[in-house]
Amino acid sequence: MSTSIRTQVAIVGAGPAGLILSHLLAEAGVESVVIDQRSRDEIESTIRAGILEQGTVDLLTRIDTNTRVHTVGDRHDGIELRLRGEGHRIDFPGLVGRSVWLYPQHEVLKDMLALRLGSGQDLRFNVTASRVDDVDADRPRVVATDADGSELVIEADFVVGADGSRSVVRPAIAGTSRDGYFREYPFAWFGILCEAPASADELIYSNSENGFALISQRSHDVQRMYFQCAPDADPNAMSEAEIWETLQARVPGTALNEGRIFQRDVLRFRSFVARELRHGRAALVGDAAHTVPPTGAKGMNLAIADVMILADALHAMFGENDARLIDAYAETASRRIWKAQNFSWWMTSMLHKLPEHNEFDERRQLGELRSVVESEAGRTYLAEAYTGWTL
Ligand code: PHB
Repeated sequence: MSTSIRTQVAIVGAGPAGLILSHLLAEAGVESVVIDQRSRDEIESTIRAGILEQGTVDLLTRIDTNTRVHTVGDRHDGIELRLRGEGHRIDFPGLVGRSVWLYPQHEVLKDMLALRLGSGQDLRFNVTASRVDDVDADRPRVVATDADGSELVIEADFVVGADGSRSVVRPAIAGTSRDGYFREYPFAWFGILCEAPASADELIYSNSENGFALISQRSHDVQRMYFQCAPDADPNAMSEAEIWETLQARVPGTALNEGRIFQRDVLRFRSFVARELRHGRAALVGDAAHTVPPTGAKGMNLAIADVMILADALHAMFGENDARLIDAYAETASRRIWKAQNFSWWMTSMLHKLPEHNEFDERRQLGELRSVVESEAGRTYLAEAYTGWTL
C-alpha cells in the first residue's frame, strides 16, 4: 500500500523547530504537512532543555498571547557563576535589558501541538521518513512509512529537515549524514531530575576544586542538576547517596535540597554544523543542522532562530516568487549558528576540566573566569549571548 499526498512544505520532525515553522508558514498562508516518527505522548513527555532566550519568549508570546511561558514558566534575570565557592551574579536586565525564562521544552511542545492541531494542521505521528528524493527538481518527495507499515509519499515544493541530530533529510542536502564541522569533547554531563524544592533562586554554574556542576530547575518541586563525568559513564553505576555527595562537593557555599532522583542520564558533548544547510528545494533547521554542547543552553533557541529565518525566506518564495532569501538562508543562519557555537564552546571550555588538565590550565581557567566576572564588558558579553542576540 502506498499513499501519495501533496503540499507546499513537507516538514520532517514535530519538535519545537518543525511545529513553530508550520505555525509561521500558516500565518503567511503557506500550507505544510508535518510528520514525526514519535507518538504525541512521546513528544510531550521527553524531558529536554529548559532555558528560553528573550527572543524565543517574544516569539512564543506573539504566536499565543496566552502562552503558559508567563504563568507556568519563570523569568530569570540572571545566573550565578561560582568560582571556587565564590559567587558572581550576571545581572541580565542590568547589563543588556533582557532576560531568559525557565520553561521546559516539553511544555513548549504541549503548547505548540495543541495550537497546531487546534488550527487543523496536517500533523501525523508515528510516521517515519526514510529518505528524500529529487531535491534538485521542482517537486522533492519525502518517502515515509506510517504506523501500519504502509508507504506515505509526500510530494512538496520544499522539504524541511527538522528531524534532529539523526536527520534523514540531511543526506539529501549534504550528500552524507556526517559531512560537516565537528568536535567531540572528552567529557559529558551526568544529569538528574529529582523531587525537591529549588536550592537557589537562579541557576548556578559552578567551577569548583572538585569539578563542574550546574544547578538548574524544572518547576517548584522538580529540579535538574548536572555534573561533569566521563563520556562512557554508566548512569546507573552510582547510588543516590554518591550522586548527592558528588553534587554537594561541587557547589561549595550552597547546601543542596536533596530528594528522590527519578531520572538520570548521561549527555554526550558534541559541536557539529552540517557543511550544507540547504540544497535545491530542501533545508535543515535545528539539531538536524547543528548540535551544540548544552553548557550555553543554546540548542532549542538556535533551532527557533533558524526557523524564523527560514519562515521569512519561504514566505518570500511562495508569496512573492522571490528566491533571494532562500538562496541566502545558509549564509544568514550560519552567522548566528557560529556565534552560538562559539559561545557554547567557550562556556564549556571555561567551566570543565580536560583529562590532561594541569595546574597551569587550572590557574589560567580561573584567570579567564575572573576576567569575565570582574569586568562589565565581560559580564555584558556573557549576558548578551546567554539571553540571545536580537534577530
Ligand atoms: C537545563 O536546565 O537543562 C539546562 C539549563 C542550563 C544549561 C543547560 C541545561 O546551560
